[in-house]
Amino acid sequence: MKKIIHRTAAVTATLCIAVFFSSSVLVELFGSQESIAMVKNLIVMRGLFILVPAIAATGGTGFALGENRKGRLVEGKKKRMPFIGANGLLVLLPAAIILDQWAAAGSFDMKFYVVQGFELVAGATNLTLMGKNMRDGLRMSGRLRGKKPK
Ligand code: HEM
Repeated sequence: MKKIIHRTAAVTATLCIAVFFSSSVLVELFGSQESIAMVKNLIVMRGLFILVPAIAATGGTGFALGENRKGRLVEGKKKRMPFIGANGLLVLLPAAIILDQWAAAGSFDMKFYVVQGFELVAGATNLTLMGKNMRDGLRMSGRLRGKKPK
């Protein structure tokens, strides 16, 4: 059961970050200011209510599953998780909220794009770390062949 929750939450959280990232890039490159504001609002008012519990559930179930396991793969996952959480809470969450407010006010100036830049870098970092955790999880559960789990 724990494993099913872990897998579902992990995939949900990773997909959320990927969708927020790509929809932000696409709408800012090709969309109107109104559509940018709409996407930014959807991320905060809908998306975060899915992403935040999904990340919390992934971390919680992950540490429970990894409690008695030893080895390089599980240690790597344990080390990455605090970075994923801190990046989410300290960069992605505040950036999403402030960008939504600025976009709603039509304030697309330099500071909007600076914060947007930070958000994209933090999002790409989390996607990379989450992708590595996914790869190592799949190796541990034997679904992905690679270096033998210890
Ligand atoms: C965002 C972070 C994480 C992602 C994206 C992630 C992803 C995954 C995925 C996709 C699996 C394979 C599940 C399956 O085959 O059914 C898995 C398994 C696993 N994960 Fe994670 N995980 C994350 C965080 C963690 C953390 C922090 C730990 C703590 C050490 C952890 C421990 C485990 C363990 C032990 C398994 C193997 C379960 C088994 O086969 O018995 N995960 N993870």
